[in-house]
Amino acid sequence: MPSHDIALIGLGVMGQNLVLNIDRHGFAVAVYNRTRSVTEQFVAGRAQGTAVKACYSMQELAAALNIPRRVLLMVKAGSPVDAVIQEVRPHLQAGDLLIDGGNSHFADTARRSQELQAQGIHLLGVGISGGEEGALRGPSIMPGGPQAAYELVRPIFEAIAARADDGAPCVAYLGPLGAGHYVKMVHNGIEYAVMQLIAEAYDLLQRGLGTPSDALARAFDEWSRAELASYLMEITAAILRRGDPETGKPMTEVILDSAEQKGTGRWTVQEALELGVPIPTISAAVEARGLSALKAQRVAASRRLSGPAAEPPGDRQSIETAARHALYAGTVCAYAQGMALLQRASGERGFGVNVAEAARIWRAGCIIRAAMLEDIRRAYAAEPGLSNLLLASPFREELGKRQPGWRLALETSLRVGVPAPSGSASLAYYDGYRSARLPANLTQAQRDYFGAHTYQRIDREGTFHTDWLAENDS
Ligand SMILES: NC(=O)c1ccc[n+]([C@@H]2O[C@H](COP(=O)([O-])OP(=O)(O)OC[C@H]3O[C@@H](n4cnc5c(N)ncnc54)[C@H](OP(=O)(O)O)[C@@H]3O)[C@@H](O)[C@H]2O)c1
Repeated sequence: MPSHDIALIGLGVMGQNLVLNIDRHGFAVAVYNRTRSVTEQFVAGRAQGTAVKACYSMQELAAALNIPRRVLLMVKAGSPVDAVIQEVRPHLQAGDLLIDGGNSHFADTARRSQELQAQGIHLLGVGISGGEEGALRGPSIMPGGPQAAYELVRPIFEAIAARADDGAPCVAYLGPLGAGHYVKMVHNGIEYAVMQLIAEAYDLLQRGLGTPSDALARAFDEWSRAELASYLMEITAAILRRGDPETGKPMTEVILDSAEQKGTGRWTVQEALELGVPIPTISAAVEARGLSALKAQRVAASRRLSGPAAEPPGDRQSIETAARHALYAGTVCAYAQGMALLQRASGERGFGVNVAEAARIWRAGCIIRAAMLEDIRRAYAAEPGLSNLLLASPFREELGKRQPGWRLALETSLRVGVPAPSGSASLAYYDGYRSARLPANLTQAQRDYFGAHTYQRIDREGTFHTDWLAENDS
């Protein structure tokens, strides 16, 4: 009997938690998973005592749903999404709604949406962030697709989403086609950058200055309660406090230093290159994970390549404070770059994303939730065409004040040979953006010299070429 509000396909880590969240808010959920035993274990275990209905075929699942049907896919991104759509599609009819809640590429979402539209089936591409815990307690939800289709699922999303301090649910319609997955991709790009910046501050204090682990945990704990307050800072402080029960050492010391990635950071960088938006803090973070993965090469090179023998240019306390300023400034740069990419894509990709709304729905539930997001939201709400977050209050003033510490932290990293790729990229971004004149004049001259690419002049209109090989008789 059709009596269920929504179906969920894909009972992985995210899927199971979302089901329990939706059920807890009083919506009737039917579930299906490719591997039957996973469904059986779920309904007999975590979902016991709930109203969740287990289905063992797509036919059974479709028959359990109220019309129009709402089917949420939480399967692995890529070809599994296409495979599941092919399986479920024959059981759907015009007016039904498919929701892809995984980390799909925005271009795949646009393609699938157009294919399904031919059959009158709507597709929403929805970024869901917050990990396991967020899915269960309240994630940040980033939906894109046909607006009328969003209205079909809006009550469920508004009920299950995280709530910010002002009580607003962390969900908003973001735009057509792949807009939701685009915003999630940029969210993940910022996430890569902030994680890397935190790792660099940790590395400078721990390896560069020899800060003992308890002092390190205390520093991050203190920072996470003030201007740097964020989920990623909180979990860092908790991680740094955790000891390994087997060896008694800090957990961080026994974990292999080789970072993995699933691709959303790389997609962000590829997309930024495509649109010509500089996001150096984010791309340095993606590259830093790539370099970390060359563990065997790094170990071999550590025995053959020398580093500096220099001392830090200050006492530990002043450098610790400097590292805090550098982390704040780098984090602002990461958000500034992500927002700039969103703004450009809003126009060029036709997403029309309201950047202030994106900041609003990131304030709770998601991995990059941070105290500074309320100021970011305000900045874009006050000036939707803001060319760069660095120019907005309070960031412009704060970066100005923190500049001496920001530079001291990076100077220390350079002197002691502890790499700070995202931190250095952030400062170069700031210095580049505030430079009225950059050496691109020389680049243009070189391009004109070897390729007759022409250049423009600062003193008159037009396009110019110089015969660089001719004698200069002036
Ligand atoms: N984990 C997170 O923190 C997180 C956060 C945000 C977004 N996401 C995204 O959410 C999605 C799900 O993530 P997850 O962590 O929950 O994944 P997961 O635990 O690895 O589960 C994957 C699910 O996909 C199903 N699946 C895989 N290939 C399939 C195929 N070819 N046909 C049918 N079903 C298939 C699996 O079914 P079987 O049981 O049959 O293998 C399983 O239910 C991904 O796109 C992920 O990127 C994850």
